[in-house]
Amino acid sequence: MGRDPNMAAEHFKAWLLERHGKGTRLRQTRLCETELDDGDVLLQVAYASITRRDALACCAQEVASRRLPCVPGGDLVAQVLASAAPRFQPGDWVFASGYGIGSKHHGAYAERALLPGGWLLPVPEKLDALSAISLGGSGLAVAMALTQLEDNGLKPERGPVLVTGAGGSNGSLAVTLLAARGYEVCALTRQAENSQWLKDLGASRVLLYGDLHLDAIQPLARGVWAGAVDNLGGNVLGWILGSSKPGAAVVALGDVLGSAVNLSLAPMVARGVSVLGVDSAQAGFATKHKAWIRLAGDLHSDKLRLLYRMVGFEEIPLMCTQLLNGVSRGRTVVRIADSGG
Ligand SMILES: NC(=O)c1ccc[n+]([C@@H]2O[C@H](COP(=O)([O-])OP(=O)(O)OC[C@H]3O[C@@H](n4cnc5c(N)ncnc54)[C@H](OP(=O)(O)O)[C@@H]3O)[C@@H](O)[C@H]2O)c1
Repeated sequence: MGRDPNMAAEHFKAWLLERHGKGTRLRQTRLCETELDDGDVLLQVAYASITRRDALACCAQEVASRRLPCVPGGDLVAQVLASAAPRFQPGDWVFASGYGIGSKHHGAYAERALLPGGWLLPVPEKLDALSAISLGGSGLAVAMALTQLEDNGLKPERGPVLVTGAGGSNGSLAVTLLAARGYEVCALTRQAENSQWLKDLGASRVLLYGDLHLDAIQPLARGVWAGAVDNLGGNVLGWILGSSKPGAAVVALGDVLGSAVNLSLAPMVARGVSVLGVDSAQAGFATKHKAWIRLAGDLHSDKLRLLYRMVGFEEIPLMCTQLLNGVSRGRTVVRIADSGG
């Protein structure tokens, strides 16, 4: 995969995460197209998003697995400017997420990106560019989680499905997607002020994190959940498993509260509860494409508009800090360049 030798070398604005003393810093700069990593599709980035992973990197809390310097930003929706990949033509709208974009390959927080065509998904006809980024990589992860749950027997008539970290990017999408498919959704959040918004997304019930008794988890409490999408991990996963119905399936999607978990095996061996995993970043093209098409079919644009807030390119560092301080909710979309998409 090489760079197109006819490509004009234009300059564009970008945020760059780089080494600074013993740590890192995020600096706004101008890059030249020749400084981009190899790829065969040159893109004008219209929108990016800020996820927890992006925020942790930009706030220097998680840089160990990153190449530095690197343009951060793991999700983008963009228009093709030039393509040596036969599947794409100039003017096409595409989406990309995962594959180390923003951590090992220059990413989304720049006006231009150069990516391998095999990493790009066309924006489905049913979606515009803004709807596509309102789903983003979280949408892929949640669609894959739902596929896992349904492949393991989850159906709306089996009972309520719990979503934890419901106010976050994955959580709010999971509430919306499950409700759109007819599930009774219970949303777990720290913030009572999110309750009406979560109900507007489709939650039937809202549970407050502060009301859980995580210091006294019963491994075989009354079985309530037919399924769950857990973004928190830590003790919360043990509590979910202990209050799951026989035969329930639980997707461990995230580890906001930590990935080291002290679990009783009783729910698995005495009730047949399954714990399932998803890694949307490294999933193959076919899996991502299937999830992407499923999202476009399952979600309506009026709900998508409730899921995100829009911020400007200059606001990226501040928004990363706010996300980690719990000040944001839903998805944070960044307008990178004016596009008309
Ligand atoms: N497996 C995959 O393929 C995949 C893909 C994407 C992300 N992830 C992982 O999924 C997790 C969630 O990602 P995200 O982008 O949705 O993050 P996010 O937008 O930051 O949302 C996380 C949510 O967790 C809750 N939370 C945060 N700190 C908490 C605390 N101290 N105690 C209790 N609840 C807390 C909050 O929900 P409330 O505001 O409702 O309280 C917050 O909105 C992360 O661990 C991420 O790395 C996994």
